[in-house]
Amino acid sequence: MIPPPTADFKTVLDRIPRSRLPELLRNAPKAELHIHIEGSLEPELIFALAQRNGVPLAYPSVEALRAAYAFSDLQSFLDIYYAGASVLLQEDDFHAMAMAYFARAAADHVVHAELFFDPQTHTDRGVPMAHVINGLARACADARSQHGIDASLILCFLRHLSEDAALATLQAALPYRQHFIGVGLDSSERGHPPEKFAQVFARARALGLHRVAHAGEEGPPAYIESALDVLKVERIDHGVRCVESPALVARLAASRMPLTVCPLSNVKLCVYPTMADHQLPALLDAGLCATVNSDDPAYFGGYLNDNFIATFDALPQLGPRQAWQLMHNSFEASFASAEAKAGWMTALDRAFAEAAPALP
Ligand code: HPA
Ligand code: ZN
Repeated sequence: MIPPPTADFKTVLDRIPRSRLPELLRNAPKAELHIHIEGSLEPELIFALAQRNGVPLAYPSVEALRAAYAFSDLQSFLDIYYAGASVLLQEDDFHAMAMAYFARAAADHVVHAELFFDPQTHTDRGVPMAHVINGLARACADARSQHGIDASLILCFLRHLSEDAALATLQAALPYRQHFIGVGLDSSERGHPPEKFAQVFARARALGLHRVAHAGEEGPPAYIESALDVLKVERIDHGVRCVESPALVARLAASRMPLTVCPLSNVKLCVYPTMADHQLPALLDAGLCATVNSDDPAYFGGYLNDNFIATFDALPQLGPRQAWQLMHNSFEASFASAEAKAGWMTALDRAFAEAAPALP
């Protein structure tokens, strides 16, 4: 059962012919809530920045690097993802990376984006925190003036490192507090349960920061529960393994706890054998506030609209009603103001209503 839109609007959605779906998926307004900005670094930009900064790469060409993007699990991806990020040194590098993402997001009709960034991936190589955050924050401001996109930043802790390192990272980021809205938890999930980061998330909460965490991508449903109960997160990133626990699914549905699902990522990292096996329809049927996102688009085969198109192509259970619900959920689950959300939701309803044939 999808939580119903108003009865009137439901009938509008149900009148939309399936033939209008590709155009709606591409052109309707949407929010992206799970994008690692370092995962938007395309091989061409990796090579350009490597040359500019004199950073050696283990691959001789763009083609050879791209050919290495065949992953067996999360760790096999992370190894190559951290190597790619090693070319980022100057403030302008971070700005250029994010601006390339915003151009793609604008083409996909993303009107609001909350970007993850991994400061430890850079500060541990000697890059100043100022270069990372100032470059990304300037890009967020430029996203508004150049593309009309509302963008904000979420600082993620690397869970394969210690909680002390996460606490030191939060401390080092505090001079830039006005530039990020929350904290997240990413990197290798198995063996690094959320509760390892209880103190740093408590500190973030006391500072008034939003909280999200990757959980239930490769880790068990118990990691989703401890992210909720110990870290007090407001969204679960991925979360797809919740389907293994009916009690957890019921809890997530009752609380409208958002899941930021990343379909192409899940297939590329072998969470599901094929897109036809993805559990997104079941999550929506259970009434969960699921959203569609790109995760690391340069590595997983596409940006936000590519994710929508691939998912709806492979799963015939998904139609106009589910497309509207996923986009509506993306606004509901965002950390934007109630006023901004209402404006985007109105534009979303208009886009779908225009695709419904007039009644005789
Ligand atoms: N999972 C965990 N950590 C990550 C990911 C992901 O999909 N992408 C970048 N860091
Ligand atoms: Zn992710």
